[in-house]
Amino acid sequence: MKPVPSKNGNRLLADELTYELRTIPPSAGRQELVPRKSCAMGDWHAASNTPFHVAKCHTLYVDKLILAPMVRVGRLPMRLLALQKGADLVYTEETIDYKLEKCVRTVNETLGTVEYVHNSEVVFQTCGREKNNVILQLGTSNPLRAVKAAQLVSKDVAGIDVNMGCPKHFSVSGGMGSSLLTKPDLVKEILTSLVRNVTLPITCKIRLLPTIAETVTLAQLIEGTGVAAVAVHGRFVTERPREPVHYDYIKAVADSVRIPVIANGASLDIAVYDDIAAVKQKTGCASVMLARAAQWNPSIFSFGKTTANPLDNAREYIKLALQYGQDLGNIKFNLQHLLHFAPDKILKGKLSSAANSQELCELFGLPVHYKEDSRCGLQSLYTTLDSHLFELCRRGYRINILEVPFDRKSLRRANISPKFLLWEYSQKQSLAWPEKPKYCTLYDNLLRKFFTLLSFKGEFYTSGGYYSNKKTSEQAAALASLKLLNVDLPYELYNVNSSL
Ligand SMILES: Cc1cc2nc3c(=O)[nH]c(=O)nc-3n(C[C@H](O)[C@H](O)[C@H](O)COP(=O)(O)O)c2cc1C
Repeated sequence: MKPVPSKNGNRLLADELTYELRTIPPSAGRQELVPRKSCAMGDWHAASNTPFHVAKCHTLYVDKLILAPMVRVGRLPMRLLALQKGADLVYTEETIDYKLEKCVRTVNETLGTVEYVHNSEVVFQTCGREKNNVILQLGTSNPLRAVKAAQLVSKDVAGIDVNMGCPKHFSVSGGMGSSLLTKPDLVKEILTSLVRNVTLPITCKIRLLPTIAETVTLAQLIEGTGVAAVAVHGRFVTERPREPVHYDYIKAVADSVRIPVIANGASLDIAVYDDIAAVKQKTGCASVMLARAAQWNPSIFSFGKTTANPLDNAREYIKLALQYGQDLGNIKFNLQHLLHFAPDKILKGKLSSAANSQELCELFGLPVHYKEDSRCGLQSLYTTLDSHLFELCRRGYRINILEVPFDRKSLRRANISPKFLLWEYSQKQSLAWPEKPKYCTLYDNLLRKFFTLLSFKGEFYTSGGYYSNKKTSEQAAALASLKLLNVDLPYELYNVNSSL
């Protein structure tokens, strides 16, 4: 048994860690977490009897400038911008374990990204550039789900973080975020399970407990699970972001554990790059993590820069956001914050009226990037579209379009699907096979939506609409064709005006 002393004299026994791992209760009906035999980190951990935090990968969190996890902000374009500007590590926005766990990993050849997709929603998007710098933050209240979600993404990220600080209703009501701060047993179980079963450094991000002593005790419990580092947001759960940060609590944690501590919460005290070092010194932390300071000015990570250039930051962000297919709403949200220090308030006002990426680029003087964006969209359209149908379209075959506002609820109301009705109609016509309905549905990588072209009796039909669900897209195309072919049906049931 090899004792591992911690700074405050507490002795953490390597055997205790192994013991904790074995005590994860395999309760009835619940899947048991089995330590992975092939897991390199787990093997090393078990074989050497040395806690994870003295492994070489703990240096990942030492002397680092870090982009904090931020919902709606910490997506691929903003993470890449922060890296370009000098951040060493970039956290994703909080990603909920049960959502991630259901995702399928797909390679998006057009965008050059890896995407974790569920029901055509991209839950996590990443690329090779950030592989060694991106930390995925999980929202979780369940060790098994956390491990499954972390293992799923493990070959695309540099580390996994657990959110233990978010005070929002959604997190707390689901037993996640700051509600974990008062559940030390669960904290222990989640972190130990992750450390044991995932081949990546594990960290967590906490807020403060009411006293320094309680906060330090929690931090030491966290250290004991074998995590690689802990980030401390120096505010109580009840405190608002504008209230001053408690540096004394952060320092007390940094002084009482041996793992790297990451100071967070100081954005309001950070106007220029050199202020970051002052926070590091004041707290005795290994690294500093910034949220709002970076959200308003990603150049804060750039050595030697004293002032922000909001317009430059905004333009660089737009290029990345369009390159990686962000939706317009999210782009505008981030631009509002990137223009926080912009003297031209009129531009900020005009932002909301930009109806598409072209108008947005024109507003910021970036016409070229709109063109790149649309080229990219067309490319994905052509590569996905069934080549046979595409060739027919190119040769000038007629495409019949009827815009029908199809929604899935109407299927329940009508109790029969347009696709079935079209199939039935085609059966009655005794058509040869090539003339039967054939659906060609493509996925547009930029819009992240499906579009269906239907061939029937040598003609083409579409509803002209983009849908977030493939089946719905096909039903809409079938409905459009039935109406255009004047098939007698109660179209009102599908919310389509019979007199159209
Ligand atoms: C827009 C926004 C979204 C945030 N989302 C998350 C999140 O997903 N996970 C998390 O742990 N903290 C989240 N936070 C909190 C920040 O990570 C950070 O702890 C807090 O803003 C204090 O740091 P600062 O003073 O550098 O802003 C968010 C903060 C902001 C402003």
